[in-house]
Amino acid sequence: MGIALDQIVPWGRSRREYELMFGLTAEDLSRGVLDCGGGPASFTAEVSAAGIRAVAVDPIYAHSGREIRTRFEAVVEPMLAQVRATPADWTWTFHRNPEDLAANRRAALERFLADYDTGRREQRYRVGELPELRFAADSFGLAVCSHLLFLYSDLLSEAFHVRAVEELCRVAREVRLFPLLTLRGEPSPHLGAVRSAVAEAGWASEVVRVPYELQRGGNAMLRLLRA
Ligand SMILES: C[S@@+](CC[C@H](N)C(=O)[O-])C[C@H]1O[C@@H](n2cnc3c(N)ncnc32)[C@H](O)[C@@H]1O
Repeated sequence: MGIALDQIVPWGRSRREYELMFGLTAEDLSRGVLDCGGGPASFTAEVSAAGIRAVAVDPIYAHSGREIRTRFEAVVEPMLAQVRATPADWTWTFHRNPEDLAANRRAALERFLADYDTGRREQRYRVGELPELRFAADSFGLAVCSHLLFLYSDLLSEAFHVRAVEELCRVAREVRLFPLLTLRGEPSPHLGAVRSAVAEAGWASEVVRVPYELQRGGNAMLRLLRA
C-alpha cells in the first residue's frame, strides 16, 4: 500500500493505554496476543517482558529503529500543534495535557526501541500488513488493532476494512478494535459494513464502552467473538 511511513503517523501507546482501550485482563492476555499495526507502541515490549506471548506486525518493521525514531521526531511537533489548535476535540483524562501526551508517546517509543532489535531477532516484531497476514489460522487467542482501522477511514476503504477484519478473525479467536472514530472525531462510516460482514461469517460483535478517552467521544471499542 505504501502508506505506512508517510501517511499514518508512527505514534505509539503504552501497555497501560492498551489495557484501558481494550479492557484487557490478565486472562485475555494469557492466550497469546497479536498487536496488528503495533508501530512504536510499547505494548509488545512490556507484555513480553512480563512473560506473555505477544507479537506485533506492522509494515514499519521493515525499517530500522533509527528510521522509526527519525519519523517520530518529524511528526511530534506538527501533531502537537494540531492538538493545541483543536482543544475542543480532546479529553484530558489519561494524559494531563498536550505536553504530557507527547512525553508519554516519547516514553512508549523509547521502551519500544529498547526492545526492538532483540524483538526482531525473536520474531516478536514482524513485517506485514493488512489485509493479508502471514499467520496460520487461530495463531492467537486475541488480536488487537489500535489507531489504524476506523481511525483512517478516509484513507482505507470500506472494502479494505472488511477484508482486514476478516483476516484478523482468521488469525485470532477474538478481535478488539479501537477507536471507532475517524481522525475528524466522527463515527467511522465503515463500522456497519464490518459488523455485517463478520455477522455473516458467524461472529458476534459488540460495541463496548471502555475507560479510555483522548479523542472526545472516543471511548468505545469493537469486540468480535467467534459465536
Ligand atoms: C497510529 S499508529 C498506531 C500504533 C499502535 N497501534 C498504537 O496504537 O500505539 C498506526 C500504525 O499502523 C501501521 N499500518 C499502516 N498500514 C498498515 C497495514 N495495512 N497493516 C498493518 N499496520 C499498518 C503504521 O505503520 C503505524 O505504525
